[in-house]
Amino acid sequence: MVEPRLGHPNLGLGVGLRTVHFPYILEKHPPVDWFEIISENFIDSQGRPRHTLDQIAERYPIVMHGVSLSIGSTDPLDFQYLEKLKKLASETDARWISDHLCWTGVAGRNTHDLLPVPLNEDTLRHVCSRIETVQDYLQRPLILENPSSYVTFAESTMSEWEFLTSMTEATECGLLLDVNNVYVSSVNHDFDPYEYLGHIPYDRVVQCHLAGHTHCGTHLIDTHDGKVIDPVWQLYREVHRGTGGISTLLEWDAQIPPFEVVHAEVLKAKLYMEENLPTDGPQTQGESTGEAVLPHPLHFVAPEVQ
Ligand SMILES: [Fe+2]
Repeated sequence: MVEPRLGHPNLGLGVGLRTVHFPYILEKHPPVDWFEIISENFIDSQGRPRHTLDQIAERYPIVMHGVSLSIGSTDPLDFQYLEKLKKLASETDARWISDHLCWTGVAGRNTHDLLPVPLNEDTLRHVCSRIETVQDYLQRPLILENPSSYVTFAESTMSEWEFLTSMTEATECGLLLDVNNVYVSSVNHDFDPYEYLGHIPYDRVVQCHLAGHTHCGTHLIDTHDGKVIDPVWQLYREVHRGTGGISTLLEWDAQIPPFEVVHAEVLKAKLYMEENLPTDGPQTQGESTGEAVLPHPLHFVAPEVQ
């Protein structure tokens, strides 16, 4: 029997740490439960961002979330990068280290995107082998996030939830369940998001993500540029029931509003932690419509380290 959340605590309701909010956080010390950082924004920085992070880490639990591991690639793992992750985790007392089930490049070329993997036995063996190598090096379980995706592979022979379940069974890794990604992919690939959640091994879910997305007419794009829509909140309710309570983090990476707005958005999660609630939830702003320029996933990495 695996301990729920791999033994990690439920940290409560957190917010993705973004540089535009640094002054507010340092001055006001808002009562947010925890922060998630984008690892790449800090692993090569010894300047002001890093000094600010150290101050924040003295007051709040920190979790590290990366975009460069490329666990699905056939390129060799980057041990220099892993060394930097390990060092930053030690210095900030990071509760866990996460990245995505994806690949970002091959043959030394970086696409600067989080690309999905073919879901089959060959990929599973490859990814699991690399997870074990990473975990051996970091000396802690790796936490991997389900991606949002816009294409599927003819070579896939299993569903994403089957892949994730087998991946967690074959390794000691945990899952970062991005509820918005489940919704985005379910629309793009026409599957039932509740069936997806019904097959997730909740005892391996260490954290979840919530975010807004953009409706582009024929498909959804995971833009992190607005409020969480009601169908995603309803899925979150299901995740809360399944996990019994889980560290929950709101990602807001484009058109970022003042900190109070971002914090208030994640606090809405409390409404979905109780039973016997109205099924329509609070009124939230709808999906954005893609009229603005869409952010690239690696725009989430601060310009100073790109
Ligand atoms: Fe996410």
